[in-house]
Amino acid sequence: MFRLPNNALVYHVLKDGKTDTLILPIEGYGLWSVLYGYLAVDKDANTIKGITFYAHAETPGLGGEVDNPKWKALWPGRKIYDDKGQPALSVIKGNAGDPKTDPHHVDGLSGATITSNGVSNLMKFWFGKDGFGPYMAKFKASQGRS
Ligand SMILES: Cc1cc2nc3c(=O)[nH]c(=O)nc-3n(C[C@H](O)[C@H](O)[C@H](O)COP(=O)(O)O)c2cc1C
Repeated sequence: MFRLPNNALVYHVLKDGKTDTLILPIEGYGLWSVLYGYLAVDKDANTIKGITFYAHAETPGLGGEVDNPKWKALWPGRKIYDDKGQPALSVIKGNAGDPKTDPHHVDGLSGATITSNGVSNLMKFWFGKDGFGPYMAKFKASQGRS
């Protein structure tokens, strides 16, 4: 059985009274646990500013490397969506390029492919049509209007 809430709490970080950053809650299965966190996204509704997980029970040194600042530092500048507006970000096996040349990939966590795949899956789900996809599209369309 798969159930989802109808509502989620999304934070807007304001700059000069306008939304500058969106902070969206994310969660999904890794290997041993559900990972709970937040993704910070630029006002373009596409560029990632940061990721953090505040609760999980993955193995320290393996899946637990989601908490490593060096891994988290690989995220800013990456893009959630491809040119067609589909969620495209994934955690690959091995190393990704830099955000400019390889915007849709993040380095895999070594020895932790299952946790890495879990992060890919949660990105795809939460930024797709059953997650925040419609919210992001609506926010993007409202930008520049107010
Ligand atoms: C004690 C123990 C803890 C593990 N913890 C994790 C984990 O947190 N996340 C994960 O993806 N794989 C974990 N693994 C490894 C997985 O079972 C699997 O081998 C691994 O995900 C494969 O990744 P690789 O293809 O990068 O080697 C653990 C294995 C053992 C024996």
